[in-house]
Amino acid sequence: MDPTIKNMKFFVRTYGCQMNVADSNEMSRHLQARGLVETQDPDDASIMLVNTCTVRQHAEDRAFSEVGRLRKWKAKRPGRKIVVTGCAAERTKEYLEDRFPFVDLVVGAKSIEDFEQMAHRLLDRRVTDEELDYVVPAVEDKVAAFVTIMRGCNYSCTYCIVPYVRGREIYHSMDRILGEVQDRVREGAREIMLLGQTVNSYRHGDHRFADLLRAVANADGVDRVRFMSPHPYYMTDLVVETMAEVPQVCEGLHLPVQSGSNVMLKAMARNYTREQYVSRIEKMRQAMPDMSLSTDFIVGFPGETEEDFQQTLSLIEELRFDWAFIFKYSKREGTPAANLESYPESLIEERHQRCLELIDRIAIEKRSKLVGTMQDVLVEADNFGRTRTNYRVHINRRAAQARQGAALTNVAPGEEVRVRITNAQRATLEGEIQNGNVTFENFRQEDAGVRICTGE
Ligand code: 5AD
Ligand code: SF4
Repeated sequence: MDPTIKNMKFFVRTYGCQMNVADSNEMSRHLQARGLVETQDPDDASIMLVNTCTVRQHAEDRAFSEVGRLRKWKAKRPGRKIVVTGCAAERTKEYLEDRFPFVDLVVGAKSIEDFEQMAHRLLDRRVTDEELDYVVPAVEDKVAAFVTIMRGCNYSCTYCIVPYVRGREIYHSMDRILGEVQDRVREGAREIMLLGQTVNSYRHGDHRFADLLRAVANADGVDRVRFMSPHPYYMTDLVVETMAEVPQVCEGLHLPVQSGSNVMLKAMARNYTREQYVSRIEKMRQAMPDMSLSTDFIVGFPGETEEDFQQTLSLIEELRFDWAFIFKYSKREGTPAANLESYPESLIEERHQRCLELIDRIAIEKRSKLVGTMQDVLVEADNFGRTRTNYRVHINRRAAQARQGAALTNVAPGEEVRVRITNAQRATLEGEIQNGNVTFENFRQEDAGVRICTGE
């Protein structure tokens, strides 16, 4: 291996969604396979990788202002290189190259899978593939790891830029996915988050999403499986039944709804009605009574009347989401909705505030019901972990262990512990360990008992 490369460090800055985080991880792995070392300090780095997002204008602006600031960073040390990747890079490749001529490489979101070859050229290596060390090292020992199962989106929601920057759907084979799952498990992962823009539309050969869920759940070393982000249209009975039946599949769901008004859902081309969404959720709650539900809403979409907005508020009241991301509509050039007249920022902001207040009120009510309950928490790091329903929990060892007369021990990342929730005032819950650590096998038995609803 070339010693100059061996000592080279890179820094990654990621904007945007989990797909981007997964892409950054993938690119980091390629760089590490070439002998580069990741650093958390930009001053220490020779390569700066900025992975951009363009889903809303604000996200794009932030990424570009960071790229602008990198001119000085680059000038400080000869040989430094800047790589800009991701969705904003795909959308504005030429503009980026014109405005920031000091950028060395632009890799659009559609080309992430070609990053390896592109990085090869950037590093100006004349080594053959055989010379490279293809044993992909651990990026970080992550207890919860992302695995991308599909790329792109075949939908064309009228507000959304994603289909333009990420292209049509392509699915990875089940073998490839299971191989990646094994790699992540070897690196310390216990929980796998399957990722895709409409993750549950997955299909490859005869395999559908439910088959994949089952296969990943049964892979050696996998204790928990989640997925993000599903589309309501593909939340089929089979997927719901699989979630309820397979113990490793967690009963927490993030299911973007975008609006509570049928008029808006139609204008957004979402391909479902409010009633269909509600009935899906009811079905799921029957199968998994304790499941958590979160969602995305867009407020201030062109033409959204006060009445439409009220429908969004009433859906929040009706379904009582555990939490939700409320986005202010952002016009994206090239999308169908960009031709419609936008509302003034003040109106969008006012609806945003009203929606946030309601979401917060309900989220607090829902969280406080968790106080006193026992939860299985998978520890990720520093005494923080997550419940199966995806609530973040801070584990307070001190109080519990002192009372139980036990020595103060750290809960290790990757362990699943039984925790009693003691405080739910903040989004991150507080809890205390009960009865020391319990193995996963025990949970499997218990979970099977409480989670499967036969409907009888
Ligand atoms: N404006 C505001 N929010 C948007 N989203 C996607 N496109 C836009 C847009 N143009 C939101 C949707 C989606 C989430 C990832 O981002 O709610 O679910
Ligand atoms: Fe965008 Fe709709 Fe595709 Fe989601 S389903 S990425 S919102 S076009």
